[in-house]
Amino acid sequence: MKICIIGLGYIGIPTATMFASKGYEVIGVDIRENVVKAINSKHLPIEEKGLSELFSNHPFKASLTPEIADVFIICVGTPTDENRKVDLTAVISASRDIAPYIKRNDLVILESTVPPGTTNDIVLPILEKENLKAGVDFNLVHSPERVIPGNMLQELLSNDRIMGGITREGAVRAKELYSSFVKGQIYVTDAKTAETAKLMENTFRTVNIALANEVAMISETLGINAWEVIELANKHPRVNIHSPGPGVGGHCIPVDPWFIVEKAPEESQLIRMSLEKNHSMPAFTVNRIFNILGGEKGFKICLLGATYKANTDDIRESPTFDIVRLLEKENQVTLYDPHVNEYSEKDLYDCCESCDLLVLLVDHQQFKDIDYLKLHKIMKKPQLFDTKNFINRKSVTELGFSYHLLGDGSLKD
Ligand SMILES: NC(=O)c1ccc[n+]([C@@H]2O[C@H](COP(=O)([O-])OP(=O)(O)OC[C@H]3O[C@@H](n4cnc5c(N)ncnc54)[C@H](O)[C@@H]3O)[C@@H](O)[C@H]2O)c1
Repeated sequence: MKICIIGLGYIGIPTATMFASKGYEVIGVDIRENVVKAINSKHLPIEEKGLSELFSNHPFKASLTPEIADVFIICVGTPTDENRKVDLTAVISASRDIAPYIKRNDLVILESTVPPGTTNDIVLPILEKENLKAGVDFNLVHSPERVIPGNMLQELLSNDRIMGGITREGAVRAKELYSSFVKGQIYVTDAKTAETAKLMENTFRTVNIALANEVAMISETLGINAWEVIELANKHPRVNIHSPGPGVGGHCIPVDPWFIVEKAPEESQLIRMSLEKNHSMPAFTVNRIFNILGGEKGFKICLLGATYKANTDDIRESPTFDIVRLLEKENQVTLYDPHVNEYSEKDLYDCCESCDLLVLLVDHQQFKDIDYLKLHKIMKKPQLFDTKNFINRKSVTELGFSYHLLGDGSLKD
């Protein structure tokens, strides 16, 4: 059986590799020439635990154009535009690109995260022809992806999945296909329910993180430590408040819930407010930075972490860049991230040389191993602002650092 995977990004590459490892003939398609070239010369353009080993044992071929296949899987991006409306350009163009290759009995699967109704109302009419009807002559299914960057291969294998078919027969066929590697349960439903279920998973997390961010703001006003408040509240057997932070990034948390707001704006006020609360965190963080510094200009600030998540190289929608934009107008800002080539060319200690404040934005494991004694010696002012409750407060204060924590109103800036 031949599988054609459209979109070779964070989802498409691991999915293609997984199917290749199960003996399927896989062709991967992307419009980015550098991605196609890299894959064909056996260099993966993304970093993911265990992926390059699996790929070197089970490589797949990449191409700029689709080919005849039995299964087509669309994994292209679905960003939002400046008005927070979904931009389905890539889904539409990928559907148009594969339409000429679809034949009787093929199976088309949309994995991209999309607003409710997209599979039926947008993709289906592009793929259908006079003598080739969806649900009759070929199958069309939405199979949302829920893997987490940094642990994708493991989650591809173990997560439960949903197959939302425009017909039940299609969903059952897709279930059989994914059963080749999925060890979790696979549930069968209709396409719109699958689209909405995926969005509600991310929305749940968006709202929960917004609540944690609100706890941080409240705690700063009340003069208490939000991290301790949350830790103690979570001792309740049915409470699980997430953690606050300097903002959210990636696609799932800051972007996907807008797809629900777009479809039902009146009914989704709580979701909208949560999105806006999370979006306000970079500005809140910068305000705290100015409080610590005792001013807004003329400082040298070193930021640790460019990604939106620990121990990955993914910088999409990362709040770090909003923070950089707000700070660098009138300050000198350096950014260091061991996972991102562009921000690891300069040594961490060079970045911190004579700076007034070190701000930890991402809890990368490497930041545990920093030589804080050395930093203390080279910084102009040994001040540290931890936005993730990640640095050992006692050990850095013993070295002479002044330590500040996002959400902790019990420490004076
Ligand atoms: N990354 C995640 O952790 C994650 C998790 C769950 C769901 N998703 C969803 O999966 C989808 C894909 O996400 P991603 O992170 O892999 O995106 P990505 O941006 O990493 O990759 C998308 C790829 O599609 C390519 N592309 C765009 N138009 C194309 C076309 N017409 N033909 C061929 N290739 C085309 C792009 O060049 C890019 O390489 C999105 O809808 C996203 O919301 C992502």
